[in-house]
Amino acid sequence: MTILAIESSCDETAAAVTRERSVLSNVVATQIAEHRLYGGVVPEIASRRHTEAISEVCKKAVADAGIEYGDIDAIAVTFAPGLIGALLVGLNFAKGLSVSLGVPLIPVHHLRAHIAANYIDTDLKPPFLCLTVSGGNTIITKVNDYTSFSPLGGTTDDAAGECFDKVARALGLEYPGGVTLDRIATEPDFTAYPLPVPHTAGVYDFSFSGLKTAAVNLIHNAAQRGETPDVSVLAATLRSRVAKMLADKTFLAARDTGLKTLAIAGGVSANSELRRVLKEGCEKSGVALYLPELKYCGDNAAMVGVAGYYEYLSGNTAGADMNAFATMPIDYR
Ligand code: KG4
Repeated sequence: MTILAIESSCDETAAAVTRERSVLSNVVATQIAEHRLYGGVVPEIASRRHTEAISEVCKKAVADAGIEYGDIDAIAVTFAPGLIGALLVGLNFAKGLSVSLGVPLIPVHHLRAHIAANYIDTDLKPPFLCLTVSGGNTIITKVNDYTSFSPLGGTTDDAAGECFDKVARALGLEYPGGVTLDRIATEPDFTAYPLPVPHTAGVYDFSFSGLKTAAVNLIHNAAQRGETPDVSVLAATLRSRVAKMLADKTFLAARDTGLKTLAIAGGVSANSELRRVLKEGCEKSGVALYLPELKYCGDNAAMVGVAGYYEYLSGNTAGADMNAFATMPIDYR
């Protein structure tokens, strides 16, 4: 089944052609350079840039795959969660294509798509546990089947990526700061800076806003004394705290559910320290670990195509009244 997939939930306009779990083409037009001027994503600008880019991005995805529009069997599109104006651009373009080509339209949940990045060219099969961490979401999910999900816990405030990005901004680093913090961080040094270890009531829940505020206050207090923190050591301290929090709760969930397979997903799954601690923990506890290729960690449409394939098999196609939603639980259906 040949699927043209479209993703426009945040600041990447992406299209891909997929066949079951294989990727024939994967095109991503990023808007990062423009949003960088404002230190974060400006929703209005994101929608306008998607509108400008979407036709060419889809055309290129079809050409790169070596097919014609007429060869496409279905259109998969991210419909939630995300920036509403941004989502609507991709969704309406997908609707138009589905009507003009006379093929089904498949609604894809953004976090289900991130999880599906782990299926690309691998043998991974549910059930398994997945930690999904991005700029807007942090959630531990039991993946019961390709389209059946049980959320076990998640962040009670900020996402892990938001924590990295805002601390990076306070340090004067470019957006998206998570990537830069990871690159400049020295080896872990837990005692160098007194960052707190946040606690939550929910056993599988996370909290990142206190950690974010503590790191930002530390930077501002140092500035008031005319000092600059050691950026590389602070980056390493923050990265270690976040990675350990994510890993500890994930391993607790793995132990309690008895699941022996773990996957990670989302932009922050590219984090080197998170990958390291998860690998180490999985080796110790005999858990099989799936890490998506770096090009499939951030927002892309290849993962939407693969998720869309399974949604289609489960009978999830959209009608003409399909809408976009800024929020939507992963177990919505
Ligand atoms: O999944 P994504 O591309 O977009 C959504 O939020 O849906 O994730 C973007 C987030 C940003 O917060 C970015 O700073 C973070 O992923 N990120 C990283 C790394 N690469 C991207 N955070 C930490 N370490 C990285 N290597």
